[in-house]
Amino acid sequence: MTRRYDAGARFFHWLFVLLFAAQVPAGILMIVPAVIGDFPVLPGVEQRTIDVIYVFHKGLGAVLLVVVLARLVWRLFHRPPPFPDTMPPLEQKIAHQTHWAMYFLMVLASVTGYVHVIGLGFPIELLNALGVPPLLPKMEGIAVAASFVHRFTSFALTGLVAVHVAEVLRHHLVEKDGTLGRMWPPFGGGAPKT
Ligand code: HEM
Repeated sequence: MTRRYDAGARFFHWLFVLLFAAQVPAGILMIVPAVIGDFPVLPGVEQRTIDVIYVFHKGLGAVLLVVVLARLVWRLFHRPPPFPDTMPPLEQKIAHQTHWAMYFLMVLASVTGYVHVIGLGFPIELLNALGVPPLLPKMEGIAVAASFVHRFTSFALTGLVAVHVAEVLRHHLVEKDGTLGRMWPPFGGGAPKT
């Protein structure tokens, strides 16, 4: 019998997926010019467009930071349902560790993004508009290190998410053990199945 994650876990899971799906392409588009060192990056794409994407990425990053910390707190106080009995113990162990690795990378990627921007003294326009002051002083050395960690953890998280999604789809389509139903629907869905 499939057991479902509670409503809070499902809400945070799919909210994060939605935000992450917008954040990663924006982050990649932003660094393309720095990597290839040329403008326009794509025909018709000017510096102004890249600037707008930066503002978007920084603002969404701040939202993600709050969502990720809330999600982590939720997870720490809510035990997930046990894996299906049909899942071999080694696979359960790997899935469990992969989930925690994703939490670790989600937190690290979000925190280092914030430290990078604020540490270099740059604004996060969304937070400024909301009247939220910078929580850290300017600290260039740490900001540069944070930038490196941010880039590495973001790519690592994206890779791990790809493996995670492939594994969920394998369970859903090949094993047909109801794995997707453990995290679906994002809202409501009645009491967790037992
Ligand atoms: C941004 C991308 C994603 C991230 C960071 C992510 C992260 C996670 C994490 C951390 C868990 C474990 C939850 C916990 O134990 O508290 C989880 C579970 C799950 N995710 Fe994702 N996920 C992502 C995308 C997806 C997508 C696209 C799907 C669907 C195709 C999916 C389906 C599931 C399912 C079914 C579970 C429950 C697995 C189980 O316990 O059997 N996830 N996800």
